Amino acid sequence: MVTSSIKFLPWWKTTTVYQIYPRSFKDSTNNGIGDIPGIISKLDYLQDLGVGTIWFSPFFSSPQADHGYDVSDYRSIASEYGTMSDCERLIQEIHNRDMYVVFDMVLNHTSNQHPWFLQSRSSMDNPKRNWYIWRDGQKPRGKKPPNNWKSIVGGSGWHYDEQTDQWYWAQFLPFQPDLNYRNTEVKQEMFDTLRFWLDKGVDGFRLDIINTVFEDESLQNNPFALTFFPSEEHDKSFFQNKLYTVNHPDNFAFAKELRSVMDEYSDPERFLVGEIAASLETLKRYCGEKIDDIKTNGLHLTFLFQSLNARFDANTFRNLISRYEQYFIEPYSPTWVFSNHDQMRRISKLGNDVNKAKINVMLQLTARGVPFIYYGEEVGMSNHRIPLRNAQDPVALKYSWLPQFIVNLLTRSGSISLNRDDCRTPMQWTSSPNAGFCSDKSISWLPVSLGYETINVDSEESNPDSLLNCYKALLKLRKETPALHSGSLNLLPPSLFGNFLSYQRIYDEQVVQIWLNFSKKPSYVSEIGKNPKLLFSTISDTDTLNESKLHLAPYQGVIIGICP
Ligand code: NOJ
Repeated sequence: MVTSSIKFLPWWKTTTVYQIYPRSFKDSTNNGIGDIPGIISKLDYLQDLGVGTIWFSPFFSSPQADHGYDVSDYRSIASEYGTMSDCERLIQEIHNRDMYVVFDMVLNHTSNQHPWFLQSRSSMDNPKRNWYIWRDGQKPRGKKPPNNWKSIVGGSGWHYDEQTDQWYWAQFLPFQPDLNYRNTEVKQEMFDTLRFWLDKGVDGFRLDIINTVFEDESLQNNPFALTFFPSEEHDKSFFQNKLYTVNHPDNFAFAKELRSVMDEYSDPERFLVGEIAASLETLKRYCGEKIDDIKTNGLHLTFLFQSLNARFDANTFRNLISRYEQYFIEPYSPTWVFSNHDQMRRISKLGNDVNKAKINVMLQLTARGVPFIYYGEEVGMSNHRIPLRNAQDPVALKYSWLPQFIVNLLTRSGSISLNRDDCRTPMQWTSSPNAGFCSDKSISWLPVSLGYETINVDSEESNPDSLLNCYKALLKLRKETPALHSGSLNLLPPSLFGNFLSYQRIYDEQVVQIWLNFSKKPSYVSEIGKNPKLLFSTISDTDTLNESKLHLAPYQGVIIGICP
């Protein structure tokens, strides 16, 4: 088993996580859908890239109405992705390469095709009835939902079922009914499911919408709010304050129970990262109290989605880092995430500018915290606009009735995409017609994104200035440099002359400075410390460092070792 060489920080704080969307990574059967044997064939690539941990979006049995986020059996593998023995081989092959593996657990809801739900809906006295959340409609006739609660994707979260003349609750889409965790049988079953995978060697879990597991038991109506669009920072959307349905106090206690299950395992320690959109204060509550210098008693990590739409400028990131340092000081750890399978790809928000993407990833891999890289980000895959009417994404389909001019209006800023398919296109391996994802003659489940002829692993591997080689060099340096993966962070004072950000990471005697020029203008710094040594630069062959003077070209980032 892999062990961390760092004395005090556990492995999951020093690692870098790479997210794979299995449907889109590598197709070994040429049916146009990615699969587990395909992923196994690319593990050497990931090891060479230098990431430490791989997180898989779900590949459990599922009708695939939400591409795996609608599970119909948590302990078996969907046949289009492979078999249980493929899955066991995957875990083993990852461990053989000294990497860790994280599965995606959808605890909040199941598919409506899960046998539990089929039984639950069959009659009021079925033993599984109370595994889901069923209520009578409003009196007198019960034909209106029990209260005003909206789902997190809009519209009522209550769905009428004729068979028993009651309504069931679903935080997400109607085919994803919520499990009832106030029923101890459900809790037990799901905790045992976690143990089932931990026993197979899974090193951690990403917890899907873990802040929506509990709702108010007495069904109080949510108050009105003057906010329509959901946000990463608060619980108001669709003109409702989700007081009684999102981040309910019982979720925080649940996080601690989940942590206890993880703590039953050691060698290696297992970890949890929660998918939660909330303020930093609330996010920290999910991580529990500080119980000693290295431990808390809640989730190990939560995604901090505040960075997703951060403006590309030095001040924005200075503020973000300083807020993260304020809330997530050791033993808490921030996370750095810029893209995932629900979001527009970051590089498209940066105008598909590779130089900006290099600055962005430098920040991601050198600021304190755990970086989460989304597949294809390392070669600069861009978002691919697919019209709502052709969507496979069920959320996009829900909104496919929107007139085109409204869609244009909503997406005009260039930083929103209404169709999650846009960021889920096949991984770009080569310049061949299906980008090497599947054979040239196959039809991939989503089209390949534009620019794959040059934006692909093959082409970039041989170009020393490529984005891919920038990722590799940074990942290697991070792994080899304790200050970068385990050091404390302090921001260096801002400059009046230039849109650049600088901070230093310190571990024992080791001091490393990071300088990032967010501007298209050059910058000059006269004193940066004693005997500086250039450890990395996003731009080769410039006269960057001259004694203790630093010249930053437009959009240049450098890492400098300073002698104490
Ligand atoms: C959040 C996941 O990231 C998303 O892809 C999924 O559709 C919903 N949760 C529902 O599980």
